[in-house]
Amino acid sequence: MPLFLLSSPLSLHILTQIRNKDTDQINFRKGLVRLGRLIGYEIANTMDYEIIEVETPLGVKTKGVRIYDLENVIIINILRAATPLVEGLLKAFPAARQGVVTARRKEFEGKEPPKEMEVEIFYEKIPKIRKGIDNVIISDPMVATSSTMLKVLEKVAKEEPKRIYIASVIASEYGVKRILELYPQVYFFTISIDPELNNKGYIVPGLGDAGDRSFG
Ligand code: URA
Repeated sequence: MPLFLLSSPLSLHILTQIRNKDTDQINFRKGLVRLGRLIGYEIANTMDYEIIEVETPLGVKTKGVRIYDLENVIIINILRAATPLVEGLLKAFPAARQGVVTARRKEFEGKEPPKEMEVEIFYEKIPKIRKGIDNVIISDPMVATSSTMLKVLEKVAKEEPKRIYIASVIASEYGVKRILELYPQVYFFTISIDPELNNKGYIVPGLGDAGDRSFG
């Protein structure tokens, strides 16, 4: 169960800023971009590499590292909330091909936190996933019930990529458990696992609605 919880003071500092209700739209978005970059670098550290030799301008050969999987990355942007996170991920994976999925959670208000949200996917465009070669990063800052993520995972997993990554900022305990039970092979990156969902399916303490806070 590869669950990666970023715990560097810098990632926690930025997370704390964007959790703060007084952080405005511009700084909220900037924070997500910065976190996308940090998560991207952590993801890159799990990718396959080889030892190569290069010649420096001094005419001397030296050994080094080439992460060849940097060339085999597809990033899927779950619109619209993931857009700033993807901007940051692209700093770590400039050669990535990109897909988009437009999903809408049907608004819900119950007595209890929902176990499942009704999700409508009304547009998707994902580049061809090469079986056993591509590393697919599915990006969504908030993984609550995981209903959206599971829909996207189903599409991606059946193409049998080399690895599937989730790049998120806050996930609920319930959402993480649900995903890793069904897809134990997924590399799940997040910065915080928050304990609860409220009766509308929002993560608590969370940071509110990531799409609204980024874009108004
Ligand atoms: N999506 C959000 O933007 N926030 C949540 O808390 C849950 C889902």
